[in-house]
Amino acid sequence: MPVSKTFYIETFGCQMNAHDSEKVIGTLEHEGYTQVSDETEAGLILYNTCSIRDKAEQKVFHRLNEYKRMQGEGKKFAVIGCVAQQEGERIFERAPYVSIVAGSASYRNLPSMLSRLEAGESRITGLDDRQTDETFDTEFTARSNPHRGYITIIEGCDKFCAYCVVPYTRGKERSRTSASVLVEARRMADQGFTDIQLLGQNVNSWRDPSGKLSFAELLSAVGNITGIKRVRFTTSHPRDFTRDIVEAIDATPALCDHIHLPVQSGSSAVLAAMSREYTRDWYLERMSWIHGAKRDISITSDMIVGFPGETDADFEETITLLGAVRYDAVFAFKFSPRPNTPAVTMIDSIPEELKTERLRILNDRQREIQREHYARHLGQQVEVMVESYNSARGQVVGRSSQNKTVNFTITPGEIQPPIGSYLPVHITRTMPNCLVGEAVEGAVPFLATASMQPQPFVVLN
Ligand code: 5AD
Ligand code: SF4
Repeated sequence: MPVSKTFYIETFGCQMNAHDSEKVIGTLEHEGYTQVSDETEAGLILYNTCSIRDKAEQKVFHRLNEYKRMQGEGKKFAVIGCVAQQEGERIFERAPYVSIVAGSASYRNLPSMLSRLEAGESRITGLDDRQTDETFDTEFTARSNPHRGYITIIEGCDKFCAYCVVPYTRGKERSRTSASVLVEARRMADQGFTDIQLLGQNVNSWRDPSGKLSFAELLSAVGNITGIKRVRFTTSHPRDFTRDIVEAIDATPALCDHIHLPVQSGSSAVLAAMSREYTRDWYLERMSWIHGAKRDISITSDMIVGFPGETDADFEETITLLGAVRYDAVFAFKFSPRPNTPAVTMIDSIPEELKTERLRILNDRQREIQREHYARHLGQQVEVMVESYNSARGQVVGRSSQNKTVNFTITPGEIQPPIGSYLPVHITRTMPNCLVGEAVEGAVPFLATASMQPQPFVVLN
């Protein structure tokens, strides 16, 4: 039966995955496929998967079982992304109705995989793993947001932290040239994008293959493109975090005052067991550079509790680190053993209840810190990029340069600022997770020209 050239895609996982899907969508559209929002109408169903922690992976198999119900309707299925790379051909055994299994390091071969699918092949694999030096560069990226867009500057990972699947699912580290990144960023600025997020599993491990720019210089170069108002980068690794990154932020207004620098643990012993290749003090030295910046740079982190062998004293060091750094947000996870990783062979010595208890203590402490720390914004005037409207509360919802959610009201009768516009907001209240305020009276929202299509203006209140 010929493949109906309609597709439905569902995406799980990180921003890299979200952006990969934008590129996959663009590629499929270029190959003559049309995206549909209802899976029942699709000839091809793609499932872009994540395997970072237990639950994420279980979701895949749960969804695959649901797929089963749609068998016999002439549909084709593709499992792509991290679970695809991790499970490989086993997916065909568990779900024989799947036709394509492809990891992200193989997406550049998608057009040929689609041709094979159309020719009737039923078991097509793209499992390049760590073989390739190529990145998935495509001009056919279907960006879902016309104001804020991702650019992948480095793919894969060579760090091999003991707990992490990424080096096995995303292949080896491969950087794009500064020229190709800057061409893409300039094209986006011309299209009206004002906010660019540079992506990489270890974004600051980026090395210019053409040897022209350092990572900090690339940040500045993107930040100096006319029309670009905000540049973020994620995720940074402490091992490759250099002082000139902080200096670049201080010197370049468009670089956001936000650094996500996951520490994972506050204990040097646990960091060593995790193969993170830095100590608590080494990390704190990087924090002192950021704290010493001229700008108020928000710092966020990821943490893992219950790594094999983590003692009460180790955990206590993670808690004291929270106080020493005063993070603006922390994403904390219970350790979950992942296939293929070194940590899977370590004895998962921390009982589930203790992991849960440590996670609770960490989150409670961090919430207290955020409650105090966010109060510094009270009375400040903060520039906000508008993201959505909460009509039930009569509020506009946006994001600050520090990546904080800001809920604000506008003076009754004034025009609602369009999505993607920027305007100054006076902060009147602070919460542990967001800021609340009022648009500065009479301020005219700034909206980039190329995206200044007619907006649905609605008057609030
Ligand atoms: N168990 C728990 N958390 C993990 N992370 C990565 N691998 C694991 C794992 N096996 C967390 C890390 C990482 C974030 C994206 O997910 O904190 O920074
Ligand atoms: Fe999930 Fe990691 Fe893959 Fe992103 S890179 S989709 S977080 S497993």
